[in-house]
Amino acid sequence: MANTKNRSQAAKKRPSRTKKPARGGWRTAKGSDRHELYELSVQEPRAEIAFIDRCFRERRGCLPSVLREDFCGTGYASCEWVKHRKSNVSWGIDLCTKTMAWGKARHGAKLNAEQRSRMHWVKGDVRDRGAEPADVIAALNFSYFIFKTRAGLLEYFKAAFANLKPGGVYFLDSYGGSDSFLVQTEERDLDGFTYLWDTEKYNPINGDVLNHIHFRFPDGTELRKAFTYDWRLWTLPEIQELLLEAGFVKPAVYWEGTTDDGEGDGVFRRKAVGEACEGWIAYIVAEKPGAPSRAGRRTKR
Ligand SMILES: C[S@@+](CC[C@H](N)C(=O)[O-])C[C@H]1O[C@@H](n2cnc3c(N)ncnc32)[C@H](O)[C@@H]1O
Repeated sequence: MANTKNRSQAAKKRPSRTKKPARGGWRTAKGSDRHELYELSVQEPRAEIAFIDRCFRERRGCLPSVLREDFCGTGYASCEWVKHRKSNVSWGIDLCTKTMAWGKARHGAKLNAEQRSRMHWVKGDVRDRGAEPADVIAALNFSYFIFKTRAGLLEYFKAAFANLKPGGVYFLDSYGGSDSFLVQTEERDLDGFTYLWDTEKYNPINGDVLNHIHFRFPDGTELRKAFTYDWRLWTLPEIQELLLEAGFVKPAVYWEGTTDDGEGDGVFRRKAVGEACEGWIAYIVAEKPGAPSRAGRRTKR
């Protein structure tokens, strides 16, 4: 497996590498919306939902219903979750009212009344106790890196444990590789714009990293620092050890396969050995002990 330098550590999507104009023509900084560009650059909720279903079924022999999306941001994945299956319920948790308002207008508005009744937007802290225990908690795009200390991350993992039903499954993602420790900017050409992942600082002593997302447009204009992340670059063993300490069992890493030309193929499989490559992303999946509840036993769409 050769995860190559071409892969951006912060992007789960396989990018379109063609420099085509976007559907509405070339984008410009002035006419662009940073949340829309973010979603186009680094989110692919349908693929993530398929991954969640596959892993949950492999581990539990049934499909999940209740998703708690910690750090939901625009709630894109949560809204897709309620569309995905009639029995599905989503709880999207985020501290940022403005980001959730954008998501409600963009994604919530596309749900029908029945789907909307199963989508719950919660302005709150991910460490708070939820109203309904979940079959699945997803904390994606490395958002939990915000907790920079061991004690802080453990506190959050313990809260996630409490917010899951017995038999519930926790999904996290992570990035790394030798390039992630370098102060540099990586670029990917997408549909009518360029996505830039900028590592401004990395402190090898405490693992702190300062990342920015910028967007550049064909007319040369840029949205600089559209998003900034001041967080800690946790390693996979540290994360798995803390999950065990919080009470989870069977933590496992799902490593991405590669195509013949060495690009990531978007297929993540449980592995014990990864490759010491320049850039990778991976999922970490862990279970809360116990049998899944009856609500999670549905196996048909
Ligand atoms: C990197 S974005 C992730 C958005 C989305 N989950 C994704 O996959 O792209 C991080 C989000 O976490 C939110 N956030 C940060 N700390 C939080 C906390 N303690 N509780 C809830 N949300 C938090 C921010 O408001 C922001 O929307």
